[in-house]
Amino acid sequence: MRHSARQRDSARASRAWTDADIPQQSGRTAVVTGATGGLGLRIAEVLASRGARVLLTSRDPGRGAAALERVAAAGPVDTPPELVELDVSSLASVRTAASEIRARTGDRVDLLVNNAGVMAPPLGYSTDGIEQQWATNVIGPAALTWLLLPAIESTPGSRVIFVSSDRHRGASFDEARLRADLRGEDYRGFDYYGRTKLADLLLSFELDRHFREGGIDALSAAAHPGFTATNIVANGFAGLPPFAHRVATWAAGVFGQPVQQGALPILYAATAPHMSGSRYFGPTGLFELRGAPGSATRSTLSRSAELGAVLVRCIEEVTGIVAP
Ligand SMILES: NC(=O)c1ccc[n+]([C@@H]2O[C@H](COP(=O)([O-])OP(=O)(O)OC[C@H]3O[C@@H](n4cnc5c(N)ncnc54)[C@H](OP(=O)(O)O)[C@@H]3O)[C@@H](O)[C@H]2O)c1
Repeated sequence: MRHSARQRDSARASRAWTDADIPQQSGRTAVVTGATGGLGLRIAEVLASRGARVLLTSRDPGRGAAALERVAAAGPVDTPPELVELDVSSLASVRTAASEIRARTGDRVDLLVNNAGVMAPPLGYSTDGIEQQWATNVIGPAALTWLLLPAIESTPGSRVIFVSSDRHRGASFDEARLRADLRGEDYRGFDYYGRTKLADLLLSFELDRHFREGGIDALSAAAHPGFTATNIVANGFAGLPPFAHRVATWAAGVFGQPVQQGALPILYAATAPHMSGSRYFGPTGLFELRGAPGSATRSTLSRSAELGAVLVRCIEEVTGIVAP
């Protein structure tokens, strides 16, 4: 009897896939963005504990050094983790970091986890004049991925993982809305967040199509962590009055699932064997808010090659970096 991917994932989920199921990562090099805390730090720690050489990125040297210490404590001493300075919202920083990663790894990157992100901060702009959520969640990760492609494509079996969100499901945009978003027009933090996370799924799909059409031994997939207790609420939630912000931050800490659990769908996408590309993973519990990892629900729009092409063209214009 043939089983669908979702049925196979459910079967695995019923056995509650955990960190212990991650194959040994010795000899593999992983780049994890936004690894100073929350999900990124956890992902970096787990990959290091399975033997990977982990390059973790941080925009702040102090927070980066603290994270490096934690990841080093999790991994073997013969492959210590390394810190790469990266403000993913700055195209200059992305270019410098990509060159550094390529040089340090000798163009060998087995895994790139585009994890760094912000959710609904007050309206702000990157150093390149792009609305901050789009700059951080989409434009920077796309630019980093494209600049690292020589290292990714020359490494057989490599993977690129985009971290999306269940919030993508209520989101939509067309070219006019996308261009307005990049300028920060009619800013509504959560609507913007949802659209950036839809864009992450579109990018993942587009990149995987590029790998398949080019016969390249690499894949791109995406994952979301459900509702996980991290700093994302404390750092964001545009427009809430201070008291409501404190309540929301408290509620996220109490009701969000532990970061160890929330990281699992991303780790699953990054490491589970026999994976095909263009997949999307998340928690399999109620409303995909928590639970063991498995296939996640994605919107029809997130599979639109037409919208994906519009997005890629706009990113090329904004970054000056030509997509593959
Ligand atoms: N937690 C959830 O429930 C949830 C749900 C759905 C999706 N997600 C996604 O999960 C990912 C990780 O979020 P999290 O929950 O772990 O949040 P978090 O605890 O706030 O961590 C976010 C990470 O991104 C980094 N970051 C933010 N802006 C950056 C920039 N401009 N350059 C470089 N790094 C930057 C932060 O670094 P700093 O220390 O420098 O701030 C931090 O390391 C995000 O993409 C988010 O959208 C989270």
